[in-house]
Amino acid sequence: MQPENTEQTVRLSKGKKFLFGALGTIFLGFFVASTIYLYPLLNLWLKTYLAFLNPTELNLENYNNALQEQIFLSRKFPKSFIPTLSVFDKLETIVEQNLKESAIVSDLPQGVIIIQKGVLGKYITKSSVAKVAGLEKESIQNKYFLKAENQKEINGTKSKEETEALIKENFEKLVNALRENQTLYYFPAELNVNDKSLLNGLSIQSVNTYSDYKIVSDKNKVKIGQVKIFMENCSGSNTLNLVFNINEKTLEFDGINVFINALCKERFTEVNGEIVGTCEDCSWFPVNKTYALRPDYETELVYLDTISGGQFFSKAAYSDLLDLNLALQNSGFSLAINSGYRSYYTQAYLFEYYVSIEMANGASRAQAEIIANSYSARPGHSEHQLGTAMDVANEACGNFTAECAGNSSLYQWMLENAYNYGFVLSYPHDRVAETGYVYEPWHWRWIGRELSREFWDVRGEISVNTFLYNKGRY
Ligand code: DAL
Ligand code: ZN
Repeated sequence: MQPENTEQTVRLSKGKKFLFGALGTIFLGFFVASTIYLYPLLNLWLKTYLAFLNPTELNLENYNNALQEQIFLSRKFPKSFIPTLSVFDKLETIVEQNLKESAIVSDLPQGVIIIQKGVLGKYITKSSVAKVAGLEKESIQNKYFLKAENQKEINGTKSKEETEALIKENFEKLVNALRENQTLYYFPAELNVNDKSLLNGLSIQSVNTYSDYKIVSDKNKVKIGQVKIFMENCSGSNTLNLVFNINEKTLEFDGINVFINALCKERFTEVNGEIVGTCEDCSWFPVNKTYALRPDYETELVYLDTISGGQFFSKAAYSDLLDLNLALQNSGFSLAINSGYRSYYTQAYLFEYYVSIEMANGASRAQAEIIANSYSARPGHSEHQLGTAMDVANEACGNFTAECAGNSSLYQWMLENAYNYGFVLSYPHDRVAETGYVYEPWHWRWIGRELSREFWDVRGEISVNTFLYNKGRY
């Protein structure tokens, strides 16, 4: 037999077990229910509430997820577990779209894309109500799209060759229009060229258009390149900007007024069978046996009252001449200028004088002219007319002769130093064939310090005259 007290103990503990079991089950039930149901609900609540406080952080995807979660939960929950959520009205997600009207334009070079600024398109999702009241839920979503306005993407298709041909064609049109005083639609009538000779000898030297170029612009005209124009008149360059007109969808030239202002005159013109320089300031003109100064060409002169010889000289060269004179003095030389400025008519007289001497020596007129012209320039062909040439000597020597030691040392000093003051030797011994004149160690021409220093490097290769012709600054 089993002891009675054991049976009693068992009975008593059954009652307690039931009590504890029931309480435990209720507690566990609450715990499980709160964990399973309340937690996600609270979580959802919290999410929604936070989003409500800061709607920009609620993107559409999160919002939809939240809504789905709500629907799922509400199916299973007894009413009492569903709290009333805050109501969201008119929640909008606006996504700006880079959608443009695209156009392919044949006049624009390949690889060039112009994006014309405008109003961006919008892709809008509007979730108007997200309400959970009891079991009621609403979710109305509208998606719609607002088209971009005035925004265009323009893609070029013209090949390099085609673009160049088009530019050439447009350039010819422009020059013709300027020649005929006509207007093109893209430049106004007042841009006239009065002296039509300025339009001579223009040609396209190079075309530079952008390639693989993308530009965003709010303008109707977009610069896409530059055309370099060679001006044969003065061997100079000029430029025109190339623009694309978005409205007209054509290539045009811009900066035409700048182009017109930079047009250059013909450097030479023919007067009485002579090739004459058209220069206003002919200081850098290559005066030689081919190219002449016009008879009335003159420059502003100053009288040289501090240098022996009583000569006039170009005002432009005066300060460099004074510096040269000072440097010579500091080296122990006393400069005399035997001939400075000579007018066209003085030169005409001089040349005639030398011809008469040669004729007196037995030469015919024709022979005398040839002989005289080997050491004396014909009128218009002398650098002395420029006012920038001088025949130098040491003051003690009188006229320059190699026999006078003072001249030789002065000449040596000039050979080494004169270029630092802008002076160069016009007729050296090794350039007789090129210049057509005998060696003249006394004849120095001012070309300015910048050019004389540049000439220093090529003095053994070309004459000053050729150097200046190549420079083309006239
Ligand atoms: N003696 C130089 C060439 C002149 O007459 O200008
Ligand atoms: Zn001279």
